[in-house]
Amino acid sequence: MKSNPPSLDSDGLDRSALPAHLAMIMDGNGRWAQKKLMNRVKGHEQGADTVRMVVRTCREIGIACLTLYAFSTENWQRPKTEVAALMALLKKFLVAERAEMQVNNIRFHVIGEQERLPADVRDEIQRTRDATKTNNGMVLSLALSYGGRAEIVRAVREIAADVQNGRLRADAITEDTLIGHLYTAGMPDPELLIRTSGEMRISNFLLWQIAYAELFITPTLWPDFTREELIDILKQYQARDRRFGRV
Ligand code: FPP
Repeated sequence: MKSNPPSLDSDGLDRSALPAHLAMIMDGNGRWAQKKLMNRVKGHEQGADTVRMVVRTCREIGIACLTLYAFSTENWQRPKTEVAALMALLKKFLVAERAEMQVNNIRFHVIGEQERLPADVRDEIQRTRDATKTNNGMVLSLALSYGGRAEIVRAVREIAADVQNGRLRADAITEDTLIGHLYTAGMPDPELLIRTSGEMRISNFLLWQIAYAELFITPTLWPDFTREELIDILKQYQARDRRFGRV
């Protein structure tokens, strides 16, 4: 029997073969600003516009789950003023985008050590999560104070406590046990990871979850990243032969 032709849209993208989960490392805000002789914070502000565009585009084309690396555990070591500016931007983003997330049926989720975030940001996160908790069009997951190794350590601690309490036998621990204790429990693994600004690094992002992800590194700095480039990368992803170790 012949299979149906792919459902190619006018942009050439096959809507039936999208990654269910797209993860992005948003890099290059600082360099974008420096190139323009501006303060690094200006780069983050421009980067927030790219975040809005990417969220809108992913929702529109039908990505089920989008995870953005907004702030790593290492980012706490940046100058205090830059950290404060990033937190303020984040808060502004949550307040401003909550209504659009509602209209577009987007559920908001956070991965990372939320307890380290300032109280006002935590409040806005909670409000956004509450407001969007029954939405089912797309999950927007922001990685905030996130580190992949720390996430795995946290999962192992929880599992060890279960073993200690006699709720779990050590020899009954499987990959699924660990997966169930990650921040991403219940989500599919990212099939595609995009990093902007040309660095060939994973930077402690979703270490467990990207085991089989396709990687795309673009030299474009995050504030310059466009809808057209995103669609183009998705098309390249669709042309790749994913074998998962098989022949
Ligand atoms: C990397 O650029 C980017 C970050 C550390 C933060 C990402 C933040 C945003 C995109 C804006 C705010 C986010 C939201 C969700 C509203 P960099 O500063 O490391 O760039 P560089 O490597 O060129 O210095």
